[in-house]
Amino acid sequence: MAWKELTAKTFPNAIKELNGISQRTNEEHYELYKGYIAKTNEIQKKLDTVDRSTANQIYSDLRSLRVDLSFALGGVKNHETYFAHLGGKGGQPSAKTLELINRDFPSYDAWLADFKASGLAARGWVWLAYDHDLQRLTTAVGDAQNTFPIWNATPIIAMDVYEHAYWFDYGRLRAKYIEAFFNNLDWGVVEQNLERALAMQAVAK
Ligand SMILES: [Fe+2]
Repeated sequence: MAWKELTAKTFPNAIKELNGISQRTNEEHYELYKGYIAKTNEIQKKLDTVDRSTANQIYSDLRSLRVDLSFALGGVKNHETYFAHLGGKGGQPSAKTLELINRDFPSYDAWLADFKASGLAARGWVWLAYDHDLQRLTTAVGDAQNTFPIWNATPIIAMDVYEHAYWFDYGRLRAKYIEAFFNNLDWGVVEQNLERALAMQAVAK
């Protein structure tokens, strides 16, 4: 089946001046996202015609395209999750999200403290994900767009901690950006992400 070209989604609630995250940061960040879209399409097109007879694990065109596709498409998915839930008013999680966080972690406060600390420990991303095999929420970190996701888990929250997400606004003070991220998180969108993941779980049973 031929590759259907991806197009950039729009995120009017996120790509503007937010509480503690500047318009410049969000606009530049959105341009990076569009770059992931463009490169995903470019790689997919090249995969249609790449020479498979030279496939080699040390170096080959096919290997390069496959590896970089995981980076590009990971960048698309991570940023679409990020921008979709940015532009809210922060505060407390919605009912189901709070219920499952309290069920799957020692407490909401303990989860939040760990998630923020994980944002300092990661080099790229922190995710709160619903693991369909474990049937619970889990926290995971990533050092790049294509590390270290775990199969059969659906991201509910994706916090970008690459420097480009905060350097204009906070320099190296990432912890301040992490506070700003939560002050702008749309918990309603997070709840929708969770409900969708739980519906997938119901189908899988
Ligand atoms: Fe980013």
